[in-house]
Amino acid sequence: MKEQLEKIKQEALSALKSAREAADLESLRVKYLGKKGELTAVLKQMGKLSAEERPVIGQLANDVQEKLTAEIDAQKKKIEEAVLEARLEAEAVDVTIPGQARPMGHRHPMYIALEEIKDIFVGMGFTILDGPEVELAYYNFDRLNAEEGHPSRDWSDTFYFDKDSRVMLRSQTSPMQVHAMETKPLPIRILAPGRVYRKDEVDATHSPMFHQVEGMVIDKNVTMADLKGTLNAVMEQLYGPGTKTRFRPHHFPFTEPSCEMDVQCHKCGGVGCPTCKGEGWIEVLGAGMIHPKVLEMSGIDPEEYSGWAFGMGLERMAMRRFKISDLRLIFENDIRFLEQF
Ligand code: DAH
Repeated sequence: MKEQLEKIKQEALSALKSAREAADLESLRVKYLGKKGELTAVLKQMGKLSAEERPVIGQLANDVQEKLTAEIDAQKKKIEEAVLEARLEAEAVDVTIPGQARPMGHRHPMYIALEEIKDIFVGMGFTILDGPEVELAYYNFDRLNAEEGHPSRDWSDTFYFDKDSRVMLRSQTSPMQVHAMETKPLPIRILAPGRVYRKDEVDATHSPMFHQVEGMVIDKNVTMADLKGTLNAVMEQLYGPGTKTRFRPHHFPFTEPSCEMDVQCHKCGGVGCPTCKGEGWIEVLGAGMIHPKVLEMSGIDPEEYSGWAFGMGLERMAMRRFKISDLRLIFENDIRFLEQF
């Protein structure tokens, strides 16, 4: 029995030494130390031994069991270390390899211009307001004092959704004035940028979709001097100190009096050049004092409150800001063009 134990020990130890995986170890453990294992089988025969032999063999069997258990544990540790080592090696990251640069996008030039405009107005206490592009003619025209039959309501200019001309793509951001009057408490100072739509053919200065920025102030004792002072201050911030403006009389149904504002040409300083088509001035926006009827329709008493408003074309502002000569470039999304800003 002693030889048997010795044999098991030698066999098991050499088998353990060559085990390479945790699963091998486990099956060896079962083979030798398990309930039906070889060592266990020997121990079961202990009863057959004489009283003198029993403690000696018992001791030996214990030694073998301890030895094998210790060897299994040691091997297990070794294998685990080797596995970890292999994993670390396989997953190693070489931090010295140069990174792969991803090309970064940036804001579209028109939105850069818009951000500048928004910042200036927000700094003056205006709130940015967003509104629907699919609009009721009621808001786009009626509530702005452009009644049935007004030329701007013509089918040749406006995208209507229904034959009764009631639902349309807004042709201006001015209906936002009415939405503001309906939803905001007085006094009101809002800036409403967004897309507008008109039946225009695409050329260097026209597009059936373009952007406007609407602005409106309603408060007590507001006058045309506030309109001029505010817009002058804005233009100086956009185009630099000393920028000259000029206000020309005009007509809009929703303002009285109405005007258009020009900025002196930055290219020629007012002498006249191709940029300003020889005029020396460039038209940038329409504006005026809000028509008393428009205030009244929105439930605001024109005896108590007055207001001014303006609407400017955003593409034009961006074109001037970045010296872009053709409107189509703004919409074509040609990366080679956009990357320049
Ligand atoms: N909505 C006008 C247009 O599209 C621009 C405009 C003119 C807006 C005068 C205004 C304004 O708010 O007061 O041509």
